[in-house]
Amino acid sequence: MSTSGLAHMGLGWPVDGPQGNDIPSSGLGWPTDSGGQEGDLAHATGTSERPDSAESQPVESATAEPAGPEGPDEQTRATEGDRLPAVDTVSRETPDHGGVEQLSERDQLAASLPDPDSETPIARAVAEDARRRISFSGKVFPKPGHTRILTVANQKGGVGKTTTTVNVAAALAQAGLRVMVIDIDPQGNASTALGIDHHADVPSVYDVLVDGKPIIDVVQECADIPNLWCVPATIDLAGAEIELVSLVARETRMERALTAYVAGAGERGEERLDYVLIDCPPSLGLLTINAFVAADEVFIPIQCEYYALEGLSQLLKNIELIKSHLNPGLHVSTILLTMYDGRTRLSAQVAEEVRSHFPVQVLRTSVPRSVRISEAPSFGQTVMTYDPTSSGALSYLEAASELADRGAAG
Ligand SMILES: Nc1ncnc2c1ncn2[C@@H]1O[C@H](COP(=O)(O)OP(=O)(O)OP(=O)(O)O)[C@@H](O)[C@H]1O
Ligand SMILES: [Mg+2]
Repeated sequence: MSTSGLAHMGLGWPVDGPQGNDIPSSGLGWPTDSGGQEGDLAHATGTSERPDSAESQPVESATAEPAGPEGPDEQTRATEGDRLPAVDTVSRETPDHGGVEQLSERDQLAASLPDPDSETPIARAVAEDARRRISFSGKVFPKPGHTRILTVANQKGGVGKTTTTVNVAAALAQAGLRVMVIDIDPQGNASTALGIDHHADVPSVYDVLVDGKPIIDVVQECADIPNLWCVPATIDLAGAEIELVSLVARETRMERALTAYVAGAGERGEERLDYVLIDCPPSLGLLTINAFVAADEVFIPIQCEYYALEGLSQLLKNIELIKSHLNPGLHVSTILLTMYDGRTRLSAQVAEEVRSHFPVQVLRTSVPRSVRISEAPSFGQTVMTYDPTSSGALSYLEAASELADRGAAG
């Protein structure tokens, strides 16, 4: 893939020296002084949409006002007459005690709320979620012509690699496909999110990479989701980067193990796998190189934030190097915009820039910032089982559907 023209993205691509990181000239409306940032965001919050606002916005606005037990007492209210009274206090008061004035204040507040018709962002988000629920519920995704192996990579940390891996994998498996997740990150987050045991003594991807164990000896079935398997990562993997350096064929060890596992399905009396997703650590070391060599496709999640784009050109360069020396078939097939916040102009501008430079690779669906998505791993679940009707789950379902449709279309 060509990275030419990236310098003109105006997104601080670190192309030719320091000007690449020059924030004031970023062209993204980024504030040139520290005071401007809040104002920008506040303005954007008040005027634009937020796809998942149905989940959190009403709660936030409701709790922003003083509430019953923690609200001001009578005396405080007398001295702070311009404040909105607590809800349970109002219901006890009569008009003689200033209730009319307070009610009119409440009326004003009610009148200031958006009219809940189809023109409001929340109503639109609810309608959009309903549309997605209707169009995707029970849908069986098409099987790809061969086992698709995707490495989910971005050396930038915290951009949603693991969240994307486990949720897309879960969505594909729930739609009837056979899917395996390989957790090649010493943090073991994908194993946690899939509820897979990965304490220190569990056979893991470390044994595959360092000791040459077959994948069949370490793979575990995901209890919550049929057709989904996981090769877990344990803390042992933290030392593997160094241990691999002195081993023979250090870059191709995952590829060999995976090829043997996929090819052995018939002998084991199993159907072949449809998808393998490899969750990479936030680095470009030997673990990630092993994942790149084992895969056909690279799947890059990009967080809709300014810094998330820095380093992308480095990632693309590394992919080109792997392609020319170790894996000629490797290509970036898919890009997913994550943590999209429709309230900010920054999210929209980052999304627009990425789409304009990677028009084919970027999925139409972007994943909104969602409380449900971030809560799910603490229950050892993906959001696909934790809250399948949430906007986050529906977005991942839609993204997985696009991925599967593209695979089927070749
Ligand atoms: N759409 C989302 N909405 C809200 N929170 C999210 C979303 N996607 C991811 N997160 C949260 O952001 C954090 C980082 O996500 P995640 O672990 O998937 O990133 P990562 O790229 O795998 O990180 P690392 O580089 O450390 O492996 C996590 O706490 C996750 O729950
Ligand atoms: Mg991760």
